[in-house]
Amino acid sequence: MELPDEIRRWATFGPWFAMFPVDFALSVVHRYSSPGALVVDPFCGRGTTPYIAEALGRRGFGVEVNAVGWTYAATKLRPASLNRVLDRLTSVALRASRSDLPDLPLFFTRAYAPNVRKFLAAARDMLDWRSGNVDRTAMAMLLLYAHGSRKNSFSNQMRQTKSMSPAYAIDWWETRDMKPPKLDPIEFLKSRLEWRYQFGYPSLAPHGVVLGDSTRILPRRASDLGKWSLLLTSPPYMKVANYHYDQWIRMWLLGGPPYPVVNGGKHQTWFGNREEYRDMLLTVFGNLAKTAKRGAVIYVRTDARQLTKQITLDVLREAFPSKHIRVNKRPMIGNSQTDLYNEGVVSPGEVQISGRAFYVTKVVGGKPFTIRLVSTLTRTTRFTRFITYRGLSDQLFGSFLIRLSPSIVT
Ligand SMILES: C[S@@+](CC[C@H](N)C(=O)[O-])C[C@H]1O[C@@H](n2cnc3c(N)ncnc32)[C@H](O)[C@@H]1O
Repeated sequence: MELPDEIRRWATFGPWFAMFPVDFALSVVHRYSSPGALVVDPFCGRGTTPYIAEALGRRGFGVEVNAVGWTYAATKLRPASLNRVLDRLTSVALRASRSDLPDLPLFFTRAYAPNVRKFLAAARDMLDWRSGNVDRTAMAMLLLYAHGSRKNSFSNQMRQTKSMSPAYAIDWWETRDMKPPKLDPIEFLKSRLEWRYQFGYPSLAPHGVVLGDSTRILPRRASDLGKWSLLLTSPPYMKVANYHYDQWIRMWLLGGPPYPVVNGGKHQTWFGNREEYRDMLLTVFGNLAKTAKRGAVIYVRTDARQLTKQITLDVLREAFPSKHIRVNKRPMIGNSQTDLYNEGVVSPGEVQISGRAFYVTKVVGGKPFTIRLVSTLTRTTRFTRFITYRGLSDQLFGSFLIRLSPSIVT
């Protein structure tokens, strides 16, 4: 389906773990809702559901508990103009040029050149990303380029989507004698911003995404939102990702501490406790069930592994008892996660799956080596995740689509 150029360009803004491919959201919203209908996503990540809903003339509403995901989502719905964003970033650079070097842990010294450190620290102090869309758009751009490949980010070599553990990263750079890239932050950003704004920018619902916990937000917003026709979402997967920990550098830019924090608070963990996970899903879906329109469709995309899938199915059955459930297995094909983790670098890795163990062969420093990952992604695999994700992502994150059909209405 065709989208205006500027809508298409901004749709992919903000890479996010387990994000929806844009065309998937597009086809579901198009097929299962009508113009003017309310489309909700209680776990909206980088905001693809509310964004596509608004772009197709529906009313989109999303909730996201992680401030990085929310900043991407809120920015793409209504970015500020290019000139205002560049002006604001230039004033950040001016302040940085007059500042002393910030007092930060060794990791930052190895990750960023001195002028970049000053620039990021000034941005962290100055940008009021929660309240105004100029500051939010400026901050969203910095979040985007806070780390990634040396050529396309402010940082020494890192993955774009996940922040490294400091000790591991320092060791990795030292072994390879890798220094942070030298760059002028404004020059660096200017061309990238021009590319982003090449066709203009969206002007969609400014309040279409809320920063917070769905278990609390949804009951509060139930009366002013009205009834929804389509629930399109992807809940967090159990024991796979910790959005808070994995984004610790970006969380620092948003005002957090300059080191990784494993537990960012309720619902900002890696969802390791079965009962808590189930309760969280049931509270969210149970609340939404109260405001479903007659004939509403629920479309959930989730992890193919039994743990998450079974709990999700049970919760959906309980929350929407009279709906008819259809489950489609949909292996991850195409390039959504692959592109995300690979960042255009040719990866020589291959993956073979044997029972529940994963063997990953990579060529690092000219030498092939194989790693066996017995459980899928445990805390101890953080090292291997950094270098092997590309292969793994295709195998592990096949997803299930669960559609609750409106043929039997609630
Ligand atoms: C699988 S991701 C969703 C990705 C999204 N479909 C996209 O395209 O970007 C699940 C999201 O749920 C968020 N989350 C987890 N618990 C939440 C809660 N209680 N309220 C709101 N968001 C929550 C996580 O931070 C994460 O971004």
